[in-house]
Amino acid sequence: MTSPAFDFDSVSLEWLRAKPGAKWRRTPGALAAWVADMDFAPPPVVVDALQRAATGGDLGYPDWRHITGGSPATDAFVERCARRYGWHIDEADTMELNDVVQGIQIVLHLCTQPGDRVVVHTPAYPPFLHSVHDSGREVLAVPAARSADSPTGWAFDHDALDAQLNSTPAKVLLLCHPHNPTGHVFSEAELRSLAAIAERHRLLIISDEIHADLTYAPAVHLPIALFAPQRTVTIHAASKAFNLAGLRYAIMHIGAAEVRSAIAQVPGHLFGAANLMGAVAAEAAWREGDEWLAAVLAHLDRQRTLLTSLLAEHMPSVGYSPPAATYLAWLDCRSLSWGDDPSVQFLQRGVRLSEGPNFGDEGNGCARLNFATSSALLREMVVRMGTPAG
Ligand SMILES: Cc1ncc(COP(=O)(O)O)c(C=O)c1O
Repeated sequence: MTSPAFDFDSVSLEWLRAKPGAKWRRTPGALAAWVADMDFAPPPVVVDALQRAATGGDLGYPDWRHITGGSPATDAFVERCARRYGWHIDEADTMELNDVVQGIQIVLHLCTQPGDRVVVHTPAYPPFLHSVHDSGREVLAVPAARSADSPTGWAFDHDALDAQLNSTPAKVLLLCHPHNPTGHVFSEAELRSLAAIAERHRLLIISDEIHADLTYAPAVHLPIALFAPQRTVTIHAASKAFNLAGLRYAIMHIGAAEVRSAIAQVPGHLFGAANLMGAVAAEAAWREGDEWLAAVLAHLDRQRTLLTSLLAEHMPSVGYSPPAATYLAWLDCRSLSWGDDPSVQFLQRGVRLSEGPNFGDEGNGCARLNFATSSALLREMVVRMGTPAG
């Protein structure tokens, strides 16, 4: 018999509605397919590690350095990067963070000036856009285009970017790899070409690789730092792949010397310190969570395929390419003529999706659906989405 922790089809609506987190609490009358949390309980190895820490009698200051690396979690991270990605890094170049977006904002704040441009692949994860705009920087967009020739269904015109940077210079390439919301996994050829563009135009690369462990074979995740080691800051977390976002823990690897020295000049307490439980959870996930990760990824792989057939049956005019990574489906609803924000209609029909326009102009007419749930609930969601509100 499959253990409940590995039986991702066993989640019930009653259990989800009783959970205290935002995803289901904020959608009392609807099915929740918005924020990027999975509907599953966290991996048992993580729960065990947290329980051991809680009952071990010491929740005082941990004996770790929190700015230059050296906690058990950074240690596990360094070891995992070598094992999974062939990416060999020095633990002294890591910095623990409270979350991924904090790392993005630290680097933008310290290494760019108001008015500087930041290259972003659009549609974009909304906090990318806020982080750039709210700090007075400007987005230089690289729009996604659907492409039958691309293995992921999506393509970006990097030659056009290269040419544009000659007349419209930028300071930073803020990469989301794998890409939220399209699920695009940048290939080795794309990463090499982006690294060359960054070199030619002196761009600092900030690469958010939080979804890396949710890459479906045959796609393969390669850190862009492999191709631009001295230009790149890479930010990672266990929170998406192992469903731990509330624990607030991330790691930034700083390959770019200018970022290291900019950070060194700022009082360390300004960045806060890592949370003991976040680090305990990340270490357990990265060292002992691979069996759970493989099981959840197999389930999500079935879900992304199931979504193809459910949409074909209930909403055939909605555009959808199964993502090459992530549990997020980017739905092109423009043929429905429901205006810029189709999530309004979906909510009236009883399913909460993420609002397309929040992902930038290319999000108009689109919505993002989170399919990290049971197959029965995914079916119910798409049936509701396709049924006019009564
Ligand atoms: C691409 C991406 N980056 C960052 C985050 C959020 O990470 P954090 O909560 O650690 O800031 C998410 C959450 O969905 C995400 O999709």
